[in-house]
Amino acid sequence: MKTTSPIATCDQTKVEDVLEQKRRYLIPSVYHFYKEPPLIVQGQGCELIDADGKRYLDCYSGVGAMSLGHSHTEILEAAHAQIDILQHTTTIYLTEPMFDLAERFAELAPGELNRSFFCASGTEANEAAMLMASQFTGRERFLSLAGGLHGRTKSAMSVTQIPMWRTDPFLLDSCDVAPGYNADDSLSVIEQKLKTNNFAAIIAEPIQGNGGIITPPTGYWQTLRELCDNTGTLLIADEIQCGINRTGTFFAVNHEQVTPDFITTAKALGNGFPIAACLTTDTVAAVCTRPAASTYGANPIACRVALAVLDCHEQNNLAAQAEQKGQRLMANLNKLATQAKEITEVRGRGLMVGVELGDADNPDAAVMTDQVLEAMKDQGFLLGKTGIGRNVLTFMPPLIMSDEQLDEACEQLAGILNKIEY
Ligand SMILES: Cc1ncc(COP(=O)(O)O)c(C=O)c1O
Repeated sequence: MKTTSPIATCDQTKVEDVLEQKRRYLIPSVYHFYKEPPLIVQGQGCELIDADGKRYLDCYSGVGAMSLGHSHTEILEAAHAQIDILQHTTTIYLTEPMFDLAERFAELAPGELNRSFFCASGTEANEAAMLMASQFTGRERFLSLAGGLHGRTKSAMSVTQIPMWRTDPFLLDSCDVAPGYNADDSLSVIEQKLKTNNFAAIIAEPIQGNGGIITPPTGYWQTLRELCDNTGTLLIADEIQCGINRTGTFFAVNHEQVTPDFITTAKALGNGFPIAACLTTDTVAAVCTRPAASTYGANPIACRVALAVLDCHEQNNLAAQAEQKGQRLMANLNKLATQAKEITEVRGRGLMVGVELGDADNPDAAVMTDQVLEAMKDQGFLLGKTGIGRNVLTFMPPLIMSDEQLDEACEQLAGILNKIEY
């Protein structure tokens, strides 16, 4: 796959200057990974480059957004081609790219998910799904799973069930939580709650990302679908992180052979451009007739980019690549788990893989995870960190990353775990 190659120069800017600006001008809530963070000035393919010219293999790809890698030529060309002729109008005028993208999604999505609403972030896509679910059902309440993350606005945060991301002191009482995928009683609690509480919808990630790469047990989503059908509850699959071929199928719900009433997706859809989509059925869409607009939703550049992203995924068969590379990565990590006592579990699907270190209930596990992340960064490898206990090393590399690069990241990890004291 092609990427552009000029090298950015940044010899004036220093990490200390930027950190000082951060301290003085940003709200403190905005935080970064690493005790000694690099100042990233450029991305090329699967690599990021810092202000000192040091290269890092990017195994987290901007929390899964850069599935095609950085500065991908075809994506940049699509953006340039559109920006040169029309940049922005809002949806009060007709522009072609949004309709082409909506038509493309109707072809790609499972079942009757023929209708799209476009916006600029994953949070907004989930808000859109929740709004439509309330309009359709006439119900106010929402149910979500422990360990789920759905966004940063009032409603999206109220259904987020990871304590560190629930920062609003006045979250909505109309949102309730059920035990997550790992709990034996998850589906029976959901069944009871749906029977008695009149929920508009359940919202869940088919694979929980921020919660620590938690996959559902086999058949879970099929039962969830039945429970929803039996109680007139709608089902929202939040594929903001796991969608667009990351797990080896276009949407992660494709693995479950279930069609939800909504799929929300973002991140990899724009490969670095802000675009998100909320897909729903003709039946639900039929009641959504009151006005809905988003200034930057369906922006022509973002829609053209998304179309180019989908073309690149198809042409390079990235679903199959994610599946094959993911299997190799998991095999390498499972082998490593037999040698490194720090690894408690390796889990995930495709190129969405978590390596749990230590015991989530023991704060030392999070400290160790940070040490490993820092040491990996020093060696030139960027990994993610997820889990309620912040102790899950996370691989979400660009889907174009080579087997050799992934093998190299595993070898480095083996070397670092070998030296860590836990
Ligand atoms: C599963 C999931 N849903 C929603 C969001 C929120 O998306 P955004 O940050 O684009 O608003 C995220 C962000 O990480 C996510 O991982």
